[in-house]
Amino acid sequence: MTPIIRTVAEMRQVARGWKAAGGVVGVVPTMGALHEGHLSLARAAKAECDRVIVTIFVNPKQFNNPDDLLKYPRTEQADAALLATVGVDAIFAPLPEEVYPDGFATAVSVSGVAEPLEGALRPGHFDGVATVVTKLFGMTLADRAYFGQKDWQQLRVVNRLVRDLNLPVWIVGCETVREADGLAMSSRNARLDTASRPVAPALYAAMTAAARYIRAGGDAAQALAQCQAQVLAAGFTSVEYVELRDAASLEPAQGLDRPLRMLAAASVGNVRLIDNIPV
Ligand code: PAJ
Repeated sequence: MTPIIRTVAEMRQVARGWKAAGGVVGVVPTMGALHEGHLSLARAAKAECDRVIVTIFVNPKQFNNPDDLLKYPRTEQADAALLATVGVDAIFAPLPEEVYPDGFATAVSVSGVAEPLEGALRPGHFDGVATVVTKLFGMTLADRAYFGQKDWQQLRVVNRLVRDLNLPVWIVGCETVREADGLAMSSRNARLDTASRPVAPALYAAMTAAARYIRAGGDAAQALAQCQAQVLAAGFTSVEYVELRDAASLEPAQGLDRPLRMLAAASVGNVRLIDNIPV
């Protein structure tokens, strides 16, 4: 079985040993409840690094809704079994008091790219992400870190923070892994009930159709409105946003000459799903 490390002191000691031997350390930050999306990051890290650490930490600071934090699935044994099949070198699963000891008083806050979309709808969320990611890099001595494009805005926020703070970590963004019907894999999908599960793929289907229409020269505003209508007609209870943005800055899209990203958040049953695709 993969060793599970609980303390920062031990994690740093292990990582220091690996680096002293010339090893490149790859880190995959997660909140557990692992699925094929997470495992794809771990496999990418295995392919490119000498040593791989998967971190499992349900970060209280990034949950703006206390109920969401309480309900977040915790499945450490199953996670460890999955990671053993990939063959990672260590699991770093610290307790909250190890990460945020008494007196903890620092926050990392990214402006610009962290402000719209999820940043506007989930106040404090990206500060929590930026803070914990910065800490995890320091705790694991990461040379390379792997993030999913599934959380596109998060990936852009992490890229910004690494550049702005001169963190010596190379960020790798990996493609979104989807179910056969197109639904992006997510730990939250487990919460979809039997009525909602067949509805959920409609989000990706509608986004894909809208992206195709825009790429073919169709009007973007019309395509996004149509996408929203299709998602609601399919049985989603609400659409929080469907937007076309500059893929890097996440500012509103200006033209088709730069890489663009379509990003959406919508709820089916009581489950909030996010997705994004290139345009
Ligand atoms: P979590 O939601 O557990 O996701 C961990 C990593 O897996 C993220 O980089 C996420 O983008 C990636 N991921 C999730 N679903 C994916 C999919 N279907 N395909 C590809 N990658 C996928 O994101 C977080 O945790 C946290 O915010 C974290 C970065 C760990 C900080 O607490």
